[in-house]
Amino acid sequence: MSELQVVCSEQCIRSAVERLACEIRSDYQDKNPLLIGVLKGVFVFMADLVRSLNMPLEVEFVRLSSYGYGRTESSGDVKVIHGLESGIEGRHVLVVEDIVDEGRTLDHLLRYLNEQKPASLKVCALFNKPSRRQVPVNIDYLGLTIPNVFVVGCGLDYDEKFRYFPDLRCLDD
Ligand code: XMP
Ligand code: MG
Repeated sequence: MSELQVVCSEQCIRSAVERLACEIRSDYQDKNPLLIGVLKGVFVFMADLVRSLNMPLEVEFVRLSSYGYGRTESSGDVKVIHGLESGIEGRHVLVVEDIVDEGRTLDHLLRYLNEQKPASLKVCALFNKPSRRQVPVNIDYLGLTIPNVFVVGCGLDYDEKFRYFPDLRCLDD
């Protein structure tokens, strides 16, 4: 499977993460932000981002689902499978996403989090596929915009495969 075409190189992704960390660090100094990652795909980006940030912060994870196994299209029916373990009222919350595609997952998550009255709620996403958007969502800190192809690597999977690629690759149908 090494023939899958590279969409973003490791170096390009590393530069994007460092740029995002600089922006976030200057905006969240002395705020002890709570970074909420969307599993599973975000685990690689979250680890890189937190180490780049190198500042006081806390981390939580949620898990949402709308993609069935072996599918590259969202079912459109988003559910929170694993929610927050502690409250976020009064916290400065930064949602960390691997990729925003149709926007349904993020829209659903932001509604769920907003109900819990955080002091602020912003979004950081490593990859964005704006050409696929169905629901408008605002991304405050964006890494890289990519074309309308299904991508794997850097934590992203197809049917649980290929998460380990250090770069982002296009999955040929
Ligand atoms: P929506 O469409 O709701 O989806 O914005 C966001 C979630 O869908 C997954 N996703 C992908 N996963 N390659 C993947 O491996 C892709 O190209 C892709 N596009 C969307 C991902 O879990 C994301 O959080
Ligand atoms: Mg995801």
